[in-house]
Amino acid sequence: MKLFVIIAAFYFFGITQQSQAQSVRQSGNAFLSADMLRQQQDSTLNPISLWLDQGQELWKSQCQECHQSVSATAKAVVQFPVWKSTSHTAGKLINLEDQIADCWSKKSGKAMSSEAPEVLTMSVFLSDAAKGMPIQVREPRDFVVKTLWQEQMNVAGQIYVRRQGRLNLSCTQCHDQQIGKNLRSDVVSPAFLTGFPIYRFSWQTMGNLDRRLRACYSGVQASVPATGSNELRALELFLKKRSEGMLWDGPSLRR
Ligand code: HEC
Ligand code: HEC
Repeated sequence: MKLFVIIAAFYFFGITQQSQAQSVRQSGNAFLSADMLRQQQDSTLNPISLWLDQGQELWKSQCQECHQSVSATAKAVVQFPVWKSTSHTAGKLINLEDQIADCWSKKSGKAMSSEAPEVLTMSVFLSDAAKGMPIQVREPRDFVVKTLWQEQMNVAGQIYVRRQGRLNLSCTQCHDQQIGKNLRSDVVSPAFLTGFPIYRFSWQTMGNLDRRLRACYSGVQASVPATGSNELRALELFLKKRSEGMLWDGPSLRR
């Protein structure tokens, strides 16, 4: 009898462990209400459609001459951030928006900020074209670069578990330990990186991952890293790596 109870306990424990492991791989979409999901799927109701239409126009006028196919270019969505070396420096991580801004600057001969609305629009457009692609971070082949890249991954791993801010909370305390709980008007997700940029109703507009992460920092009343900072790029790499194998959702609606 005792043995039976022990075996049953193990069996039960095994099952709950497994279902937890599965729920942990859910995309942010799994935490939307049925109404929001419906709105996301219906292009006539989804506000993101405006960005997609504009993106299509900009692709033709600003990008197509150098990039033949949208789908080939969109592979970068599931593979970035990547390490970019320059002739003078060891280099740094750049994300999709940094790359788009860089291309734009080269074409126009004028500096373009990765925060510019046009860059966000192109990020939304390419993100949509990457829907359904499996997330697979592009790893550097060069040994020296790989070491620098790995260092950034480690730094971000430490940030992820570091308590911070006046609320003294780490990323993992919310995104691994409070999954599904209500926080103000939101529901905490496991923070996989599967659907950016996002249209957030509380922002009344689209925003990139930098903006979302900065909101997480200010949510715990920590000092907020600057947009485009190495810290945010490192976190993006870490989150993307953690999401490998999941399928890209494209630009997403959020509360
Ligand atoms: C003048 C030519 C040119 C134009 C115009 C251009 N690009 Fe690029 N793009 C490049 C080159 C060359 C690369 C390869 C990486 C590099 O040199 O920065 C690249 C790389 C990229 C990548 C990364 C691809 C990968 O898989 O690594 C993306 C994404 C991208 N461009 C998007 C855009 C978008 C969006 C536009 C329009 C706003 C644009 N580009 C306009 C030349 C251009
Ligand atoms: C106090 C709890 C809390 C902390 C701490 C926190 N976040 Fe968040 N985060 C949220 C909430 C709430 C949302 C919006 C709902 C959601 O998607 O989880 C969110 C959203 C996100 C998202 C977007 C997920 C999506 O699919 O839209 C990412 C990525 C993220 N957080 C990463 C982080 C990282 C990295 C840290 C640590 C630097 C962090 N968060 C710290 C509460 C927190």
